[in-house]
Amino acid sequence: ACPEQLSGRRLVVSAGGTHEPIDPVRFIGNRSSGRQGVAIASAAAARGADVVLIAANISPEVLAPLGESTAAPGAGTARIVEAPTALDMEAAVRSEASSADAVVMAAAVADFRPSHPGISKIKKHRLADGAGPATGGADEAVGPAGGPAPIELVANPDILAGLVADPPQPGQLIVGFAAETGDEEGDALAHGAAKARRKGAHLLAVNAVGDGRGFGDVPNAVVVLDPQGAEVARGEGTKAEVAELLLDLIAERLPR
Ligand code: PMT
Repeated sequence: ACPEQLSGRRLVVSAGGTHEPIDPVRFIGNRSSGRQGVAIASAAAARGADVVLIAANISPEVLAPLGESTAAPGAGTARIVEAPTALDMEAAVRSEASSADAVVMAAAVADFRPSHPGISKIKKHRLADGAGPATGGADEAVGPAGGPAPIELVANPDILAGLVADPPQPGQLIVGFAAETGDEEGDALAHGAAKARRKGAHLLAVNAVGDGRGFGDVPNAVVVLDPQGAEVARGEGTKAEVAELLLDLIAERLPR
């Protein structure tokens, strides 16, 4: 790949997994390490782009390559904005994307969050006294029959679909991922194609997750789809190699 390919371009990349608070000590989360998104951000900076990484709960060890990527001659810049929850991420992505040529949503964003997170730690041992489910910020983890209280959830905004419906910068390129489970590639692709049509991103990279695939320090394999769900490209390798494939596709789609 030509290192100059993204000089002067502005990219926003989200990475990591959001944490949705249940109370001050507990959260609903997922297994994303942030590695694939950091690999994309690092490779883009190495190609000369000015990159903003919107980071959800990524360890310093995983973030390290981003700093190193800006040291090479001809490299661009990189900045990190922390966004631990889906709502934080929506605000950060929309604000940073207002001056971006392309946005890549590699983060695993929780689809739901607890509707009323406890303001103090929810107690385990507290007998039910006939009260209803522990909603409304009650700090008692007991349900109506003395069993565990249900955690009421509300839907988070779909950040990717929102970017497509209402782009912060007209004409910018919107790229998403689809994390699919299942053993049959055909099943994962069928789900990915439905997601491509539903979300409408210019490019959607479908990758398998679960059973040691997708999350963490492992190789990755992607099938990239267009908004109609048709295959544009596919590739596999290290997360850095998958990042280069996606950046080639992005670079050739940016206006000259
Ligand atoms: O972080 P790693 O350990 O390296 O693992 C990489 C990865 C598997 C997390 C990554 O390659 C990946 O697939 N990221 C997307 C995970 C995901 O949330 O997929 P999804 O199919 O649930 O969502 C589809 C797309 O919509 C994604 O671009 C996601 O960022 C976006 N989304 C989802 C929900 C939501 N509320 N808002 C969103 O914008």
